[in-house]
Amino acid sequence: MLNAAAPIGVFDSGVGGLTVLRALRTELPHESFIYLGDTARLPYGTKSPETVVRYAQQAAEALVARGIKALVVACNTASATALPALQLRFDDLPVIGVVEPGARAAVAASRSGRIAVLATEGTVRGGAYQQSILTLRPEAQVQAVACQLFVALAEEGWVDGAVAEAAARRYLEPLLSAPPDQRPDVIVLGCTHFPVLRPVITALAGNAVQIVDSAATTARCVSELLQQRGLLNTSSAPGEVRFLATDGLLRFTTVGVRFLGTAISAADVELIDL
Ligand code: DGL
Repeated sequence: MLNAAAPIGVFDSGVGGLTVLRALRTELPHESFIYLGDTARLPYGTKSPETVVRYAQQAAEALVARGIKALVVACNTASATALPALQLRFDDLPVIGVVEPGARAAVAASRSGRIAVLATEGTVRGGAYQQSILTLRPEAQVQAVACQLFVALAEEGWVDGAVAEAAARRYLEPLLSAPPDQRPDVIVLGCTHFPVLRPVITALAGNAVQIVDSAATTARCVSELLQQRGLLNTSSAPGEVRFLATDGLLRFTTVGVRFLGTAISAADVELIDL
């Protein structure tokens, strides 16, 4: 029996998923969260599907053992690769990924149906975004581009300036060099790390292209699901957040602040082994 007062578990391969946690806290201020960043094994985006499924199951187990009432897979690569396996294994728990909400946000924003997805190698290879978009809008034209270097740039805090611009230009080149009537009108940031690079991407893509990410749509989706299942926390007190990381506690707090938007105290982060 799930307890409405229990926390929501959120996991990512590292600190990028804090962008999703941020949206969840805005949407659900009375909920408590346990966020797990598998920092020891980042990146997931270059690993094989088998490895990502195994890592995701271990991360989910650790959160389930702490009594969560729902699981949010904030990592796009894990959502794209491991969501069905997680839903099967934890079948009494609501398990929500970020790919379907991201696809929904993109389809809602696109007029032309030409949608580009920027993601990790693993997410692009698995085709989950492409499939989700086509399920919602069968005539859509989806172009997916693997932008693995963006992960390192975001982690390093190099989110503007010459290096970030050069990387963005290189990745976006195939999309933006197309004739105007064949260019996408929506770009989906299909990776937890990419929202911090939004200004650079927007500057290159121009005003005719809308940039969407899955954080806010996922948060709304979680809220609706908890409501349907009678699992919303009825307390009027602000929720609490605890953090777990598998390596580099200092780095988690210093880099994490860029993604979460608020300071993380080292005392709130616990080192765990999966
Ligand atoms: N969290 C991953 C994602 O959203 C990006 C970082 C990684 O490759 O692990 O796809």
